[in-house]
Amino acid sequence: MKILAIETSCDETAASVVDDGRVLSDVVASQVSFHKPYGGVVPEIASRQHMAHIAPVIRRALSDAQTDLGAIDGIAATAGPGLVGALLVGLQTAKSLARARGLPFVAVNHLLGHLLAARIEEEGVVRPEFPYMALLASGGHTGIYLVKSEDDVTCLGSTRDDAAGEAYDKVAKLLGLGYPGGPIIDTLAAFEGPAREFPQALRQRRSYEFSFSGVKTAVAQHVSRLGGPPDQDEISAIARGFQRAVVEILVRKVTLAAREKQVSRVVFGGGVAANKGLRAHAAKVCAELNLELFVPPFSRCTDNASMIGYAGYLALAAGKRTGFDVAPRANWPL
Ligand code: KG4
Ligand code: ZN
Repeated sequence: MKILAIETSCDETAASVVDDGRVLSDVVASQVSFHKPYGGVVPEIASRQHMAHIAPVIRRALSDAQTDLGAIDGIAATAGPGLVGALLVGLQTAKSLARARGLPFVAVNHLLGHLLAARIEEEGVVRPEFPYMALLASGGHTGIYLVKSEDDVTCLGSTRDDAAGEAYDKVAKLLGLGYPGGPIIDTLAAFEGPAREFPQALRQRRSYEFSFSGVKTAVAQHVSRLGGPPDQDEISAIARGFQRAVVEILVRKVTLAAREKQVSRVVFGGGVAANKGLRAHAAKVCAELNLELFVPPFSRCTDNASMIGYAGYLALAAGKRTGFDVAPRANWPL
């Protein structure tokens, strides 16, 4: 069963062809350079860029998969959560294609896509069996999910304020490092050297909630106490301390959840899961606790359409269909 999948929830225009759960093509047109001058995603710009790129990205996904629309058996698209104007472009395109071609259509939850990304079949990649404890950490969401199957996902806790990726982006902006902040801070933090101390909110609570606005404020207060712009060494020391605070709390909570729910597998998803410091720290802690860790390849952590195609394939193959009256959703909790 060949699925064409479309993802436009934020600032990547993405399309993919997935055949019986295997990825045949995976095209992502990033808009980062258009949002960079503003230090974050500007919704209006995102919608306009999606409009400009959606058709060529779909054409490219079909040609990379050496197929065409005539050979497609179903269409999947992200319907939320995300920016409504951005979602609208991909969702409307998907509905139009499905209606014009008389193909089955399914709307996919973006969070479910991230949570299942580690299970995408790929040569040489070991996939986690169900059940697993998932940490989803991206620019828009941060939470812990018990995943028993693609139809049985329970959110155990999420952030009370900023998402982890959002905190990375805001701290990078504050330090004048550019956008997106995650990879830049990750690179700076990788070098040995001193690290400033920043708080880890809700550390002692036996809950799976997070809060990242405090650490962001602590960085801002630290910078203002310096009495002038931080030099390169100071920026690196801040990056190391901030990264340590975020990474430690993420790993602490997801491993706590795995142990409490007696689940032996830990799975990562979302853009922040691309973080090298997070991957290294999680590998160490999981080994100590006898937990198996599964992290998708970098390109499947950040936004992509193959994860939407994979989730869409499972839904369509199970006979699920979405009506053409479905609307984009800014919020769509799992
Ligand atoms: O999953 P994603 O591509 O989009 C959303 O669904 O939000 O995640 C984007 C977020 C951004 O905040 C970006 O700074 C962060 O993921 N990110 C990282 C890294 N790469 C991307 N954060 C920390 N370390 C990274 N290496
Ligand atoms: Zn995402």
